[in-house]
Amino acid sequence: MSSPVHVRPARASDVDAIQAMLAPEVDAGTVLPRVVQPHEFLVAELGGELVGVVAMSQWTTEVVELGALVSTQRGRGVGRRLVRAVLERATTDGFRSVVALTSIDRWFVRLGFVPHSAAPWELASRQPMLVTRSEPHLDAAVCWKASAVCAGCARLAQCRQRMMVRSVSMPSRQVA
Ligand SMILES: CC(C)(COP(=O)(O)OP(=O)(O)OC[C@H]1O[C@@H](n2cnc3c(N)ncnc32)[C@H](O)[C@@H]1OP(=O)(O)O)[C@@H](O)C(=O)NCCC(=O)NCCS
Repeated sequence: MSSPVHVRPARASDVDAIQAMLAPEVDAGTVLPRVVQPHEFLVAELGGELVGVVAMSQWTTEVVELGALVSTQRGRGVGRRLVRAVLERATTDGFRSVVALTSIDRWFVRLGFVPHSAAPWELASRQPMLVTRSEPHLDAAVCWKASAVCAGCARLAQCRQRMMVRSVSMPSRQVA
């Protein structure tokens, strides 16, 4: 049976609702603050109601970031459906990998993501070129980008997030 959760690109008229969904998670530190640009967001609807959101931000020609993932109807498959939609769109758009900076790394592992050896806060304080030498699947540009995102974060000193990576060549139906 297909999921009743419907995912679609965000529209300009969704911006207030997206901001309202993100605000408590940003305050709680689970989601990084970001400017809501509708073209970067997908939204999930359940029964015509907005119940989830996720952002896609291009980091390099090959890598897109998944961020600002929030579900307001927990445990009903909204989160997984949004991640699958990101993977499908990343495939269509020709990206090779999706990265996510997150503290719920085990949840992402269930969706086929693997942890990068360097945590984002480490990248912000180390030489990304040295980090990527041992992990050629993620090029230095990605680590520089993660480093730049994290360097400006007010919570960097307390950060326990990880950078999770998933190849989009793995069929999304094979996991979770
Ligand atoms: C993470 C999140 C998006 C999941 O949304 P969801 O709609 O509940 O996801 P799903 O229904 O697809 O998955 C539910 C499963 O995830 C697990 N889960 C939910 N939140 C979790 C968390 N914070 N840590 C670990 N597992 C979690 C549930 O226990 C459930 O497990 P089950 O399938 O074994 O029953 C949602 O919990 C959320 O909005 N969290 C706050 C924001 C956040 O942390 N975002 C991620 C930042 S990258």
